[in-house]
This record gives sequence, structure tokens and C-alpha cells, in this order.
Amino acid sequence: MAILKFEDGRQITVLEQIRKELEPLKIELSHWPIEKTAKVTPLLRADTLTDAQKEELLSCLDGRFEEQRAKFGYQTRDLVVLHSSVPKIEDMLKIFDKCHRHSDDEVRYIVDGSGIFGFTKADGTQIMLTVESEEFIRVPAGAEHWFVLDQNRRIKAVRYFTSKEGWVANYTGTAVHSFG
Ligand SMILES: [Fe+2]
Repeated sequence: MAILKFEDGRQITVLEQIRKELEPLKIELSHWPIEKTAKVTPLLRADTLTDAQKEELLSCLDGRFEEQRAKFGYQTRDLVVLHSSVPKIEDMLKIFDKCHRHSDDEVRYIVDGSGIFGFTKADGTQIMLTVESEEFIRVPAGAEHWFVLDQNRRIKAVRYFTSKEGWVANYTGTAVHSFG
């Protein structure tokens, strides 16, 4: 269940209300159930996955990708697995946790675990959105944001890209505010 936090400490947990708050930023948030088949379940439960296992899981989830590809022209997808036991995890997290923008949409289908996206609003204030398994988020190209893991330190997310280059960030230098 998604949670939206404001700088003043307020928080919202009702999906429809969260969507309303995200609307001016043109961020889409949806709930997409996962069919927990005998093939999918152990792959979701594993802390880390080999490249072959990632591909196996992706192929089970490709129905969603095909739908979105037809609508939005996404070209490639991959699976990002972040967990305390992933080698060099702290270095990987450092590239996500500073304010940045992309020329491509940031599209994530969270299939295991959870994480936190931060966004800067038009008035300069910031919000933090916790997303978890079975939630789909599309952050439009150009929107200033950052990403951190939450206390669970675990996420698996399918990423969709329109460009062949994959994940490329333009850092903005904006500081991440402290939240009450
Ligand atoms: Fe990003």
C-alpha cells in the first residue's frame, strides 16, 4: 500500500487521494496484481537473482510490458534487484538518492519489497511516496525526483525504457529536504 508523506509530517494512505496529489506532477500510480504462480513465487522471494533468473521472472511479467509498449512505445525492460546482500549496493544507491531528471519516463513495476520516491513540486516543496509490491508508477520525463530504499532494504522492480541507453540521470543539484 502506497504512502505519501509531506514535509510537515502529514501522510496519506488512500490510493485515490494519493493519485489526486500526484496529478499536478503527471505521475501515474496504479495497483497491478501479480499472478503468484509456482514459477514466479520463489523468484520473488529470493534476495538476489542471477541474470538468467531475472530474465525468467521478466518473461512471466511481460504481459504488462507488452500492453504498455503498445500504448507508450517502450522498447526495452529490465529488472532491478536491490538488497543488502547485492555487491556494491551502497554505491548503486548513491546514484539514485540525489535529485535528478530523465529525458525518458521513469517507469517502474514494483514486484517485491518497497522503496521511496521523492518529488519536488511546482511550489518547491517536496513529497515522498513509498511504493511497494504490485504497484506501478510512471514518472514523466523531466520531473525532478530521487529514490531511496526504506527500512526493509529490499526491492525488485521492472523498469521500462523508450531509449536503448537505459537509465541516464541529469543531476539537478537540488537538496533533498528533511521531512517532519
Ligand atoms: Fe530516476
